[in-house]
Amino acid sequence: MNKEDDYVRLAGIYDPLTAPFLRDIRNDVCALARSRHLDCVLDMCCGTGYQVILLHRKGLRAVGLDISAQMLSVAKKKGGNGVVFIEGDAAHAPFRAARFAGIIVTLALHEKERNVRHRIVEEAKRLLKQGGKMILVDYTQPLGITARVAHGAIHLIERAAGHEHYRRFRGYLRNGGLEGLLSAHDLIAEEIRYYHFGCTKLVVARPL
Ligand SMILES: C[S@@+](CC[C@H](N)C(=O)[O-])C[C@H]1O[C@@H](n2cnc3c(N)ncnc32)[C@H](O)[C@@H]1O
Repeated sequence: MNKEDDYVRLAGIYDPLTAPFLRDIRNDVCALARSRHLDCVLDMCCGTGYQVILLHRKGLRAVGLDISAQMLSVAKKKGGNGVVFIEGDAAHAPFRAARFAGIIVTLALHEKERNVRHRIVEEAKRLLKQGGKMILVDYTQPLGITARVAHGAIHLIERAAGHEHYRRFRGYLRNGGLEGLLSAHDLIAEEIRYYHFGCTKLVVARPL
């Protein structure tokens, strides 16, 4: 779908590279979705589908949406029966309004252009049922010495992903990271958790 699929080269190695660092987050997202009775969930920018497949295994109806055919091809190979993956743009998501009890976006917002990032959050709001929740996971500004050191390592990783990727990541942080997005879109944080020495934040949020 996307002619310039950023993830063509990464798709095959994405899981082995990231899985060990994201295991706790993936499990927490499942536990939170279950405890908050988010029976039908959309994972926007689902990548290789790790989270969607885990949600499905825990008995939740989960749909994965991603723009990259390569990432989705890895996801579909792992997914098995009953796991739904759709190729499409999360900034113009192909679903009717108020379709999902939960919307998940993990580690995808920091790498988008500003307008796309905001558009995806707007779409997430549109797709959420009354009383539904978003679970957003992404980098945050570090507080304290340990977090600042770990944040340095994250800068190196993001820089290694390429000049454009790094520029967008810095723009995301300059604009207030996850907190900036919550406040720009009138989203209230109901629960917050930190990972990676305080550099990554999970927020369960709802519209004001
Ligand atoms: C860093 S990966 C994160 C994947 C996954 N959420 C995770 O936690 O591993 C970012 C994903 O966003 C996808 N993506 C980029 N732009 C998108 C868009 N406009 N709509 C949907 N997916 C998009 C990429 O193809 C990639 O799979």
